[in-house]
Amino acid sequence: MSKVNTTVHLSGLTMKNPVTTGSGTFGSGLEMKDYVDLTKLGAITVKGTTLEARPGNISPRIAETPAGILNSIGLENPGVDVFIKYILPQVAKYETPIIVNIAGSSVEDYGEISSILDLEENVAALEINISCPNVKNGGMAFGTNPQTAYDAIHQVRKNTSKPIFAKLSPNVTDIVEMAKVAEKAGADGLSLINTLLGMAIDIKKKRPVLGNVMGGLSGPAIKPVALRMVYQVSQAVNLPIIGQGGIVCWEDAVEFLLAGATAVSVGTGNFLEPDTTMKVAEGIEQYLNDNGYSDVNEIIGLAWR
Ligand code: SIN
Repeated sequence: MSKVNTTVHLSGLTMKNPVTTGSGTFGSGLEMKDYVDLTKLGAITVKGTTLEARPGNISPRIAETPAGILNSIGLENPGVDVFIKYILPQVAKYETPIIVNIAGSSVEDYGEISSILDLEENVAALEINISCPNVKNGGMAFGTNPQTAYDAIHQVRKNTSKPIFAKLSPNVTDIVEMAKVAEKAGADGLSLINTLLGMAIDIKKKRPVLGNVMGGLSGPAIKPVALRMVYQVSQAVNLPIIGQGGIVCWEDAVEFLLAGATAVSVGTGNFLEPDTTMKVAEGIEQYLNDNGYSDVNEIIGLAWR
């Protein structure tokens, strides 16, 4: 296999290959270090982090579906101070860019957490989670309303000079409109998409399966929706996109690159096989070689260019 360039640049974030991890599916990275060579990832995107620790939602918080999973975790995390003190220094040893997914219950929360993380040299970029469907305040409630989405992203923009990626919710009528709002608010890039709101019912108990009733659907079931959104948005805005939603193999990832994503995240795929990210990165390189490309950037958006 001859050497191809796999480095991608996303508005100030440089990744040695276009593969990162879906927030919440890979812990902080450390949990996966026995299965994945963390130095070989393009970036590590960590679990949603909030100002204060959160215990998460009542269980059950996961339900398997025919082609994916429903989750209603509720942003369980130890809070930003614990993350910075105990987790970040350990993940930073792998010298792979760290993208911190941030969430808040108010615009002020988003501002405060971004100014705290702005001081951390080991944080390469922030992913603004305005799309979590499992929390009462903030999350998807912000990301499905153009004004609150704008306010949260703009507040983060004012509080950090690091690259910021808005993680958008697919639970909207017009994803292009929300992408344009994010661009106007100062986002440097987009993460597309978070989970689709869904539910399951236990027919024996005649009750919802998830303790929180509804949850976010991820996995192969949502890939066509995610791909369609990346395809539409990449033609409408001038922002790099981290494409995600049901990527479980390198072929899926190549589809997202062809649709216009500059990088991809493997999420639910990590639960199927913990080394999916590695197989995806190797497969993309092999595809480029087999098809006579010397640079991954040559194939970004080829499906519509
Ligand atoms: C969760 O913690 O509930 C999932 C996070 C997300 O969907 O953004």
